[in-house]
Amino acid sequence: MGEPINVPLLNLCSQNQPLAEELKAAFARVLDSSQFILGAELARFEERAAESVGAQHAIGVSSGTDALLLSLMTLGIGPGDEVLCPSFTFFATAGAIARTGAIPVFVDSLDADFSIDATDAKRRVTDKTKAIIPVHLFGHAADMDGVQRLAKARGLVMLEDAAQSMGATHGDRQVGTMGDLGAFSFFPSKNLGGFGDGGMITTDDDALAKRTRILRVHGGAPKYYHKVVGGNFRMDPLHAALLGVKLDHFPDYLAKRRANAAQHLERLAQCEHVAEGRLVLPSEIDGRSHTWNQFTLRVSNGRRDALQAHLTENHIGSAIYYPVPLHLQECFAHLPSFRESLPVCEKMAGEVLSIPVYPEMSEEQLDHVADTLANAPL
Ligand SMILES: Cc1ncc(COP(=O)(O)O)c(C=O)c1O
Repeated sequence: MGEPINVPLLNLCSQNQPLAEELKAAFARVLDSSQFILGAELARFEERAAESVGAQHAIGVSSGTDALLLSLMTLGIGPGDEVLCPSFTFFATAGAIARTGAIPVFVDSLDADFSIDATDAKRRVTDKTKAIIPVHLFGHAADMDGVQRLAKARGLVMLEDAAQSMGATHGDRQVGTMGDLGAFSFFPSKNLGGFGDGGMITTDDDALAKRTRILRVHGGAPKYYHKVVGGNFRMDPLHAALLGVKLDHFPDYLAKRRANAAQHLERLAQCEHVAEGRLVLPSEIDGRSHTWNQFTLRVSNGRRDALQAHLTENHIGSAIYYPVPLHLQECFAHLPSFRESLPVCEKMAGEVLSIPVYPEMSEEQLDHVADTLANAPL
């Protein structure tokens, strides 16, 4: 028997090693400059990142979580306010709301694309509702038509959580450019994966950009004079320089993810588990381009654990994003939503399983994933 084919969920080494010389040169440039906080290196990355996502302003920050928190601070969200957000998302979306003192109001999701259900959101609007956070989950744009209509009709500010979806489009707009502010993450597993924690806030609004930049440095404007309380939310210039190297390759990473997803979809569409409805494939909705940060299957017959064990036995990585919807998290047990049922997202949490789709997968690895899924004991 030959060597087993290994397919990790993600392989950062295969993406970063080919860039080693360019990355070392970027590091040397920052070392020689001795500019380790803010400065030209960060400004250059921000300009290029803004251009890449089609926004007027991009502001580099310390993480995607801080991008959300700082955005909410910029928008003036605080105690007494209610903020609508999906329950089926990464914790940071709701964690950031709670940290401002506002109340996360959890909304159910759409079966078709894992995104916030604007009709359900509308039912939950009260006179305390100030904002809505659609999350572009797994690399796919949320259903923005409904969200934009609701925000406009009820005068809500909109923060897009684009942490997983840099480069995804909705009509002719990229994610992060449709709301008042957009929040991005450069966590290493993201489509533009950094070298530690990092994030970005985007906006077309000059005044919001200015306020965000002030709050990023403790609210000091000018330095040491504080009209508002901010925090230290800066992205390091070293990180900006390293991310700048990868930004050159970003279109290529997206194209490869799209090609891998297309191959998964084509191969798996022929398998019996899909034809007979036990496995449900993710889809790209018309008019929205997917960036495939995750390729998320749904196992509809209760045998997800068996499928995950089968993948593990065959040396294929997988992960459950996310096993517990946020309205059922213990830290939110004091909220009325803890006793409620959000049926779509609860079902999703019991069915989802994400499989490898990273850009550097080989043909052999793609084949191995498709064959292993086709032979799974479902
Ligand atoms: C939807 C979503 N929002 C926010 C974040 C937070 O980003 P970070 O890990 O960079 O703080 C993440 C990261 O996983 C995410 O997936």
